[in-house]
Amino acid sequence: MIRAWREAAALATPIRHAVFVVEQHVPVALELDELDSSAWHALAYLNGVCVGTARLFSTNNVAHIGRMAVLAPCRRQGVGSALLSTLLQYAQNHGLSPIYLNAQIAAIPFYAKFNFIPEAAIFYDAGIPHRTMRLG
Ligand SMILES: CC(C)(COP(=O)(O)OP(=O)(O)OC[C@H]1O[C@@H](n2cnc3c(N)ncnc32)[C@H](O)[C@@H]1OP(=O)(O)O)[C@@H](O)C(=O)NCCC(=O)NCCS
Repeated sequence: MIRAWREAAALATPIRHAVFVVEQHVPVALELDELDSSAWHALAYLNGVCVGTARLFSTNNVAHIGRMAVLAPCRRQGVGSALLSTLLQYAQNHGLSPIYLNAQIAAIPFYAKFNFIPEAAIFYDAGIPHRTMRLG
């Protein structure tokens, strides 16, 4: 499902905190930002429990996907794919193209499965190496 921040925050915030702040040591001050309030947030459930989230915002019909997070014990069960599919469908339904994301290097194979292509050089965000990837 896809929700505005005011409806998603209570479910998405603890998942993002567990994944980015606790697991990946992203500074808590960087994790929530001003983009959340204007973004759409996908939420994914396993056995009735919300275990994953991701967001999409757009500027000038260009979509940006980010904050993809699935709780560690729930990975490799298709939750991340469901989140990404939901956001790609939203982008398609709203005529948003191209779609960009900043992929952690470790997650590039995941996004490549959805035909995202790496662009440009590696850069560091919150100390983690990333590459921009583009679809469309
Ligand atoms: C990246 C992430 C969202 C993927 O979620 P997920 O629920 O594990 O993804 P899926 O189960 O849908 O994986 C689909 C496929 O992507 C690929 N994949 C997923 N994670 C991968 C990884 N870490 N390395 C290589 N391939 C990966 C696999 O091919 C996988 O299929 P398989 O399990 O049949 O081999 C999740 O690992 C996560 O939250 N990581 C921590 C936060 C993070 O790094 N977010 C990305 C920021 S750019």
